[in-house]
Amino acid sequence: MNLEQAITASADRIRATGRTPAIAVVLGSGWDGISEAVEQAIDIPFAELGAFPALSVAGHAGTLRLGAIGGREVALLRGRKHVYETGDAAAMKGVIRTLAAIGCGTVLLTNAAGSLDSAMRPGSLMLINDHLNLVQRTPLHGEPGNERFVNMADAYDPALRAQAHAAAAAAGIALHEGIYAWLLGPQFETPAEIRMLQRLGAQAVGMSTVPETILARHAGLRVLGLSMLTNMGCGMEAEVLSHAHTLHTAEATRETAARALQAIIPALVL
Ligand code: HPA
Repeated sequence: MNLEQAITASADRIRATGRTPAIAVVLGSGWDGISEAVEQAIDIPFAELGAFPALSVAGHAGTLRLGAIGGREVALLRGRKHVYETGDAAAMKGVIRTLAAIGCGTVLLTNAAGSLDSAMRPGSLMLINDHLNLVQRTPLHGEPGNERFVNMADAYDPALRAQAHAAAAAAGIALHEGIYAWLLGPQFETPAEIRMLQRLGAQAVGMSTVPETILARHAGLRVLGLSMLTNMGCGMEAEVLSHAHTLHTAEATRETAARALQAIIPALVL
């Protein structure tokens, strides 16, 4: 089966549930708490969706959960494939194209990230308003036609951002806003790299999301991005970075993140 066939088969499998999600949410580290708030949930393992990746990072379930949040039909992706796992920048291509095929017009991308701004503390949330693709990797190699020259202005939809801010404020959840810098990982940054990113104007750094944003914009989907800041960038403070430390803060912020999504998702005008 080639990718096109896998996308068609995956879209058929999702359509067979009778659900028609208008928004998909890719759940990064710490963001999975929202899964418990889904009403009338139907789970489809990624293994049954040929266009979806097999996952290897522990703690990622690898399930598509269809259901409703605050009356809104959603598709939650419990787990994602990172470029650092295989080096494949197009690892999420089948997922994003399947979402487009089922008529899901918006994707909310969530992640865990390091904060580059001392005023944005670990355990807080940041709306992504733009990104830096310093890696200069793309999931669009091999794509035909002029559509590949994707306009990346306002890639993170300004209207959705305004609605997200309003919804978070109404729910009493602080939401920072800033630029997300993508580095490949899986190693954390050096202190010199963190200083470089700060000089370049980024507020957060992470190892995901950017390839998915590019894929989504190429597929014509609107994008909203949210970062959970799990730590200060390496060298900014005395703390020693580790994956365990990141997961610890992510766990402690799980409830806030779920509340934010519960407020934001139904409030978006799709
Ligand atoms: N750097 C890169 N990715 C991350 C970080 C970080 O400090 N924290 C969580 N994801």
